[in-house]
Amino acid sequence: MNPQEFLERVRSLSGEALPALSGASSRVSLEEARVRYLGTKGAVGELSKQMGKLDKAFRPEAGKALNALREAAASAHAEALSRLSAEPEAGQAVDVTLPGRRVPLGHTHLISRTSREICSIFERMGLTVTEGPEVETDYYNFEALNFPKDHPSRDMQQTLFLEDGLLLRTHTSCVQIRTMERTRPPVWIVVPGKTYRRDDDLTHSPMFNQVEGLVVDKGITMADLKGMLAEFAREFFSRSAKIRLRPSFFPFTEPSAEVDVACVSCGGKGCRICKGTGWLEVLGCGMVDPALYSYVGYDPDEVSGFAFGIGVDRMAMLKYRLDNIGRFYSGDTRSMRQFPG
Ligand code: DAH
Repeated sequence: MNPQEFLERVRSLSGEALPALSGASSRVSLEEARVRYLGTKGAVGELSKQMGKLDKAFRPEAGKALNALREAAASAHAEALSRLSAEPEAGQAVDVTLPGRRVPLGHTHLISRTSREICSIFERMGLTVTEGPEVETDYYNFEALNFPKDHPSRDMQQTLFLEDGLLLRTHTSCVQIRTMERTRPPVWIVVPGKTYRRDDDLTHSPMFNQVEGLVVDKGITMADLKGMLAEFAREFFSRSAKIRLRPSFFPFTEPSAEVDVACVSCGGKGCRICKGTGWLEVLGCGMVDPALYSYVGYDPDEVSGFAFGIGVDRMAMLKYRLDNIGRFYSGDTRSMRQFPG
């Protein structure tokens, strides 16, 4: 084969292959054209075999021409493929009888839902929702709550410290001080919010949620506290829910108590959930320690009060029977999607 003949073959193959590839009207005909021209036994490959029969001096020029054809054909194929992938196959245009695609809609997270549910029970008892900052100072998180400096009670709080003397609040109790500081009694508040501790296991997350309660008024007694919490347990769990108070210690309440609810799983008989005790610890509470009043300028002879702190994550785990706090915060939303809010 002489050089002119070879170049002529390249030119005519290009005149045939490029329009066939670019103009393919379906993915099937595009694939046919690709096999015909660019496949292992395709026309471009066959022509390149002829190069051996050419004069040595002409081979570089011939190779260049053939490569240019191969590249042009490959890009014509790629363009056609992307054009055809974007449109439905002929004969398969939109089937209007198929069910529509559902647009995924979000919903309230189980923690937000539980927190709102807890708050709304207390709102019905006359408390008002109040909030405070998550980044706190030592003063509001500890000092004004009667945690002396260097006192071991601070160790319980696994605090995450920030720069410049700031910290991530370890509880919502700081809002007790912030609220009393700017209002005169009576105070009837409920405080939902995020809290942080250096804790991470099946039942603890470094970020978790609490709802704080504070009632300061004339003549408030521990009976009022117990009555409010018993009614809360009945509203939140079930009308037959029972609670008990056990003596405990918190720096900001005196006396302090831990509240247990009769096991929501076995009703008090003892099971795996309550570790055989029949009771589940659900919150801390107590009568406001008069030491707090001195920080906010309240007169302890005039008023008395109680406070409580509820772990929202724990309440949600008990109510909805979840065994791992991580389900609330995981990027895998399958558990949470079971509880549309
Ligand atoms: N702040 C406590 C904690 O996070 C919970 C708590 C206990 C809050 C007793 C209170 C209370 O208001 O009276 O562990």
